[in-house]
Amino acid sequence: MSSAKLILDGQEHEFRVIVGTEGEKAFDITSLRSATGYITLDPGYANTGSCESAITFIDGEKGILRYRGYPIEQLAAAARFPEVCHLLIYGHLPNREELIEWRRQLTLNSYAHETMINVFDHYPPHAHPMAILSAMISSLSAFYPEANTPETLDLAIMYLLAKAKTLAAYSYKKSRGEPIMYPLAELSYAANFLRMMFGHPAEPYEVSPVIERALDLLLIIHADHEQNCSTSTVRMVGSSQANLFAAVSAGICALWGPLHGGANQAVIEMLENIEADGGDYKKYIQMAKDKQSGFRLMGFGHRVYKNFDPRARILKKACDDVLSEMGVSDPLLDIAKHLEEAALKDEFFIERKLYPNVDFYSGIIYRAIGIPTNMFTVMFALGRMPGWIAHYREMRLERGERIHRPRQVYTGENVRKWIPLDER
Ligand code: CMC
Repeated sequence: MSSAKLILDGQEHEFRVIVGTEGEKAFDITSLRSATGYITLDPGYANTGSCESAITFIDGEKGILRYRGYPIEQLAAAARFPEVCHLLIYGHLPNREELIEWRRQLTLNSYAHETMINVFDHYPPHAHPMAILSAMISSLSAFYPEANTPETLDLAIMYLLAKAKTLAAYSYKKSRGEPIMYPLAELSYAANFLRMMFGHPAEPYEVSPVIERALDLLLIIHADHEQNCSTSTVRMVGSSQANLFAAVSAGICALWGPLHGGANQAVIEMLENIEADGGDYKKYIQMAKDKQSGFRLMGFGHRVYKNFDPRARILKKACDDVLSEMGVSDPLLDIAKHLEEAALKDEFFIERKLYPNVDFYSGIIYRAIGIPTNMFTVMFALGRMPGWIAHYREMRLERGERIHRPRQVYTGENVRKWIPLDER
């Protein structure tokens, strides 16, 4: 089938059918309004393709996730985060020389402008790190104006990738009143972040290879997820030709919400509540089923995955491996497993195809490696950085998309006559 027909008021309209490289089908309705006067209504965009994209493929029914064609399972098992960043942004795995240079640039550019460090001093100590991160990322456009144009996009990409982890670690150090740590050239992306978070200038910091690998895995798992809420936000803001830092800062704000990336913090808080409540997970399953309670099982359900989330599978196994390698036992992991087991047997969750998502198990690993709960979503943002950048770059450089400007169906008052104040 190469076209679809729509019959409206007896008149036939034909629309091109597009088939993606994995067989996904769509009607191209770009001419719909001009041809018919109608628009489509799709709140939440569950049936709307906002773009064509060659970055990430998801099949939610089969639990498939691939970055540029590579299955997430293979990348999680073998790749390092910087290679995945390169793959997502530039479309191919870097060869040895490219990777050496890419890593070198990532380290050389990881210093934040010294004046930015003073900005941290003006946040209250308990400020949420997501508020600080979004402001600092947007501020990069003020500190590095030379990277704000389409011609210097590669420079902006490098600055953003390299400096985001430094800014995230600084926000943690400042919240604790500890001296900040500068990045070191010989360390990997993950090891540098860990040292900047947990190291102290007065003594050497040994990066545990188990923790370094676990962090790499978490970053890779989160690196892209096609047109989710934050990535669509980045594309939306970028479509106005706003600079990369501004667009990604908006994406960070979108990620913060508990229905999106903020769920990882909400999951741990939920598991802590269950633990404090004597471990009665069944009570929480009941609450999640009761619509009046307003409670949802955090870390469960997904708009796209309707069978299983492949990222959650990888992370569930990684939880067991990392905790046992570290010799840590966490009662929250047992509660999480009981909760999952009970939910997967329950008709409510089966009927609605609700499964654990990426956020269900990630927090348990973050906890084990010492990341404070209010920084979990910052970790998600660091992981998602290459995905946001790849989508911005694809949209601006490769596709030259039009400004995003959806329509609406107006349901308000019809025209009314102005009433002077003393007649109301
Ligand atoms: N607990 C209880 N019921 C749920 C849950 C949940 N976590 N998720 C969905 N439902 C129910 C919902 O009440 C609805 O029931 P009904 O059909 O009877 O009205 C049905 O399942 C469909 O839910 P929906 O809200 O229409 O689904 P959605 O596709 O709009 O939302 C979601 C997807 C992820 C926002 C939602 O499942 C949710 O709120 N989950 C909890 C928050 C969470 O874990 N978010 C992280 C998502 S993964 C990370 C990321 O990429 O963002």
